[in-house]
Amino acid sequence: MSTAKKEYKRVTVKSLVEMKQNGEKISMLTAYDYSMAKIVDSASVDVILVGDSASNVMAGHETTLPITLDQMIYHASSVVKAAKRALVVVDIPFGSYQSDSKGALRSAIRIMKESGGHAVKVEGGLEIKDSVKRIIQAGIPVMGHLGLTPQSIYKFGTYTVRAKEEAEAKKLKEDAKMLEKIGCFGVVLEKIPAQLAKEVAESLTIPVIGIGAGGGVDGQVLVVHDLLGMTHEFNPRFLRRYMNLYDEMGAAIGNYVGDVKSRSFPSEDESY
Ligand code: KIV
Repeated sequence: MSTAKKEYKRVTVKSLVEMKQNGEKISMLTAYDYSMAKIVDSASVDVILVGDSASNVMAGHETTLPITLDQMIYHASSVVKAAKRALVVVDIPFGSYQSDSKGALRSAIRIMKESGGHAVKVEGGLEIKDSVKRIIQAGIPVMGHLGLTPQSIYKFGTYTVRAKEEAEAKKLKEDAKMLEKIGCFGVVLEKIPAQLAKEVAESLTIPVIGIGAGGGVDGQVLVVHDLLGMTHEFNPRFLRRYMNLYDEMGAAIGNYVGDVKSRSFPSEDESY
């Protein structure tokens, strides 16, 4: 395994497989708008995920279910404009790929044509195999997502760790193998035991990106607002906060309000 880092001017699905082969960990972060995506891309994040977590983070919904295909396309097209280096992966939202494979392909095509995204991500295994196959056959790169799949939250009932039981772990391993076999370029594993995630990563040639899946996988993904501490009420064990922007932004905005009220803003220098 080489530790030398190859420079990528533009990250592609092929680069990610190469990173796995070279033992280079893959960094992935969400972004939903142009300004955030510009910062994320400039910081050399390999993959920007336009996640359907936009439903929670941007729109304030309790789950990822309500966000629509049109809204995902809006977010993705803003992100694509900012991403000069990163691969942009776009979630196909709930209800836009589960009913039949033709509908799934139509949704994926809309995302690719209307947003300019580079790949799509879908949640699930065997249940959505035909949809995934059809999308890949059309030349669209697909990333899988197994483990805690938030679009199925009402089936699970809670956001607790998945695949702790043998039967669910076995299905997850089979689903991951199947997704690789039919041509997915990568898989996200969310909130599952670290040992299971490591075994899956070691059994696949495609990259496995974890969120709450330990360090034995090929890369990590987080929601950027969580990493920056903007969503202070969300505190899962897997989250490492690099800033406390909720408090810092609140204090800055509070200072602005104080300056306006006290008439110290704008000053003469800030006026024409
Ligand atoms: O929507 C999202 O942000 C995601 C990540 C949590 C992997 O799917």
